[in-house]
Amino acid sequence: MSDFFKNKVVAITGGSDGIGRGLIDLLIPLGAKIATCGRNQDKLYDLQVRYAGASLHCVVCDVSRYDDCKQFIDSTIKTFGGIDLLINNAGISMRALFEDASLDVIKKVMDVNFYGTVNCTKLALPSIIERKGVVVGVSSIAGYRGLPGRTGYSASKFALNGFLEALRVELVEKEVNVMWVCPGFTSSNIRNVALNQSGNAQGESPMDEGKMMSATECAAHILTAIEKKKRTLVLTFTGKRTVFMNKFFPGWTDKLVRKFFFKQGELVT
Ligand SMILES: NC(=O)c1ccc[n+]([C@@H]2O[C@H](COP(=O)([O-])OP(=O)(O)OC[C@H]3O[C@@H](n4cnc5c(N)ncnc54)[C@H](OP(=O)(O)O)[C@@H]3O)[C@@H](O)[C@H]2O)c1
Repeated sequence: MSDFFKNKVVAITGGSDGIGRGLIDLLIPLGAKIATCGRNQDKLYDLQVRYAGASLHCVVCDVSRYDDCKQFIDSTIKTFGGIDLLINNAGISMRALFEDASLDVIKKVMDVNFYGTVNCTKLALPSIIERKGVVVGVSSIAGYRGLPGRTGYSASKFALNGFLEALRVELVEKEVNVMWVCPGFTSSNIRNVALNQSGNAQGESPMDEGKMMSATECAAHILTAIEKKKRTLVLTFTGKRTVFMNKFFPGWTDKLVRKFFFKQGELVT
C-alpha cells in the first residue's frame, strides 16, 4: 500500500473488535493517526496497551448517544487537529423472527447502526469538508438484500446506504468522497453478541466462523477501496452473487435466501 494513509487522521467507530480492530492493526503501521471508540472500556484499554506509543486516541462512547459521539469527535479534533477520514464501523446485529422480536430490538439496532453513523457524520463533517476527506459507512449485503431473522438489521443497513448515497451527491463539489462498503460473512464477534428476541446477546454464532473471510482481510479490502476513491465495495463471492441475483432475479433470490436461513420451517442461521 502507498503512503496514502500516512499522517492521516482516521476516526473509526467500534475499533476494539472485529473489522474495526482489523482496520487499526493495518493503519497503525501505515503511519495513520487513529481515534476509535467502543462501549467496553477494558477492550479499549487492551488496544492502548498493544499500541502504546502510537498515535492512538481511544474514547468510551456508545454511538447511539449523540453526547457520547460529540465527546468522541470533539476530543479527536482536539487531539489531532482535525479528521481526514471517518469510518462508521460500529454495529450490532440481531437474530429473531419479527413476529417474536420485541420492538426494542429493532429500535436498538437502528439506533446503533443508522443513527450512530448519522451522529458521527454530522459532528465530523465540517472538519472532513475542510480537509476534503472521506466518509465511509460499513454496511452489509443485508443493506442490498433483506435477510430473514434480521429485519431490523437489514432496515438499518438499507437506511445507511440511502443516507450515504444522498450525502455523496450533496458533497461532490466539496470533493469529499462518501462511500459504503458491504462485507459478506466475516469472522468476528458480531454473531455472538447479536440480539435475540428479548434484546439479549445470543451468546453463540450459528455459523462456522472459521470458513469466513477474516476481519483483517476484510479491513485490507476496505482500505484499498478508500485509497482508490471507490463508490461502493461488495465483498466475498457469496456477497457479490447475492447482490447480483437480487437485482435481476429477486423472486428466485427469495427462495434461495429462505433455503439458506431456514430448515424445516425453523430459522437456523
Ligand atoms: N462480521 C460480519 O460478518 C459483517 C458482515 C457485514 C457487515 N458487517 C458490519 O461490520 C461492522 C463491524 O462488525 P464486526 O463484524 O467487526 O462486529 P464485532 O466484532 O462485534 O465488533 C463491533 C465493534 O463495534 C463496537 N460497538 C458495538 N456497538 C457499539 C456502540 N453502540 N457504540 C460504539 N461502539 C459499538 C464494539 O465494541 P463494544 O462492544 O465495546 O461497544 C466492537 O468494537 C458492523 O457495522 C457490521 O454490521 C459485519
